[in-house]
Amino acid sequence: MSLSIVILAAGKGTRMKSAMTKVMHELAGRPLVEHVIDTAQLLSPRTMAVVCGNGAEQVLPLLDAKGVSSIMQHEQHGTGHAVMQAISVFENSDQVLVLYGDVPLTQFSTLDSLINCGDSQSLRILTTELTDPTGYGRIVRDGADNVIRITEQKDADQQTLAIREVNSGIMVLPSKWLTSSLTKLNNNNAQGEYYLTDMVAMAVEDGLAINTVCCADNAEVAGVNTRQQLAELERHYQLLQANELMVNGVTLADPSRLDVRGKLQTGTDITVDVNVIFEGDVTIADNVDIGANCIIKDSIIGQGVTILPNSIIELSQVGDNVNIGPFARLRPGTVLSDDTKIGNFVEVKNANIGKGSKVNHLSYIGDTDMGSDVNIGAGTITCNYDGANKHRTTIGDNVFIGSDSQLIAPITVEAGATIGAGTTLRKDAPEQALTLTKSVQKTVIGWKRPVKVQK
Ligand code: UD1
Ligand code: CA
Repeated sequence: MSLSIVILAAGKGTRMKSAMTKVMHELAGRPLVEHVIDTAQLLSPRTMAVVCGNGAEQVLPLLDAKGVSSIMQHEQHGTGHAVMQAISVFENSDQVLVLYGDVPLTQFSTLDSLINCGDSQSLRILTTELTDPTGYGRIVRDGADNVIRITEQKDADQQTLAIREVNSGIMVLPSKWLTSSLTKLNNNNAQGEYYLTDMVAMAVEDGLAINTVCCADNAEVAGVNTRQQLAELERHYQLLQANELMVNGVTLADPSRLDVRGKLQTGTDITVDVNVIFEGDVTIADNVDIGANCIIKDSIIGQGVTILPNSIIELSQVGDNVNIGPFARLRPGTVLSDDTKIGNFVEVKNANIGKGSKVNHLSYIGDTDMGSDVNIGAGTITCNYDGANKHRTTIGDNVFIGSDSQLIAPITVEAGATIGAGTTLRKDAPEQALTLTKSVQKTVIGWKRPVKVQK
């Protein structure tokens, strides 16, 4: 049975109080509508489109990037009206699944069971039971428990308002029937809108079977209308990810203080302290310890690595048994070989650090190729930028650089060289020799310290 998917995302999202359209607000680092699109794509629909209206100019670049079509709904006259605009998307499919761009956490398995809870000629509704159903459309059933209609909050009488089973908004409908029946929708209701939910009573009239799947997890069908709801869903989502990590052998100091904004692949016996953020694609091998307040983005971390608190790692590759931090910053293009050490207040960028090399304190290593077993003294700076262009620094194996040295690139320090403390290196340093810039030390006898002027 061929399937089309229409994602409704033209609404305003007034209650977000934002210049950014609601469906572009992020949950776990991805716009709400992207969550919906990603899950929808798992269903391999024949066609799919997002209905855009308010803030379309903010949504369209994302759709382009993901290769998803859009349909414009220039004025928003309700969910039924939105689906009307999208007839061309689904008219040649057997059935159409309607999703909402602001309901991000519906699982593939839930949608799959919704689609399969009836044949392609039935109308299928994803419902859920809420202790407080305020605001939602109510699922109205007859004495034999058959669904007879959906009544919106604003159109409901007291008895209907007491119903706790609500419409998630997510529905599967037979395309041919929907295409012809949409023309019969009217807007004679409290909001003066064309309600998609009115299709239910119409389907009953036309003798279509109505099937429902009641979703046990409210979060899966929860819509985001306010920033509070966004934060609640974020925490819910993060807790699900934290649980999955723990199931897979990761120890979390506090599952409620972890954020995964992307794809995290983990080995076993990894421990993660509080307030760690993983972004983008991160892979971590076995036996890694990550201290509090670290941010790791788009990086690969080898086995047995220790990352001490407050370190930030981005687009970097870290070998086995490496020590990083505390307060280290690995910027894009950093490659640390096995057994290296990057200590506190060290920044590394676009640099290869060879096996066993150490940069322990307060240094900047940028645009550098460093050999193995190098020792970089505290406060060493690779001066990689001349104000216009970047230049590389090459450091051979077994080099020792004394503290507070500046290496003015392009420059090479050959293997086995020693650079004296406080050297400003402007020319290449030869191998196996001591190179230093000497400044004469003076002592001024009888020199007086300045004293504070009394006012
Ligand atoms: C809708 C349902 C309600 C359900 C609730 C679940 C209707 C009439 N009501 O109500 O039964 O319980 O969702 O959250 O369908 N949209 C458009 N174009 C429009 C109007 C809306 O694209 O003209 C989009 C919105 O961007 C949003 C979705 O449709 O993603 C739902 O619209 P919204 O106005 O939030 O509907 P509710 O009143 O919440
Ligand atoms: Ca809504």
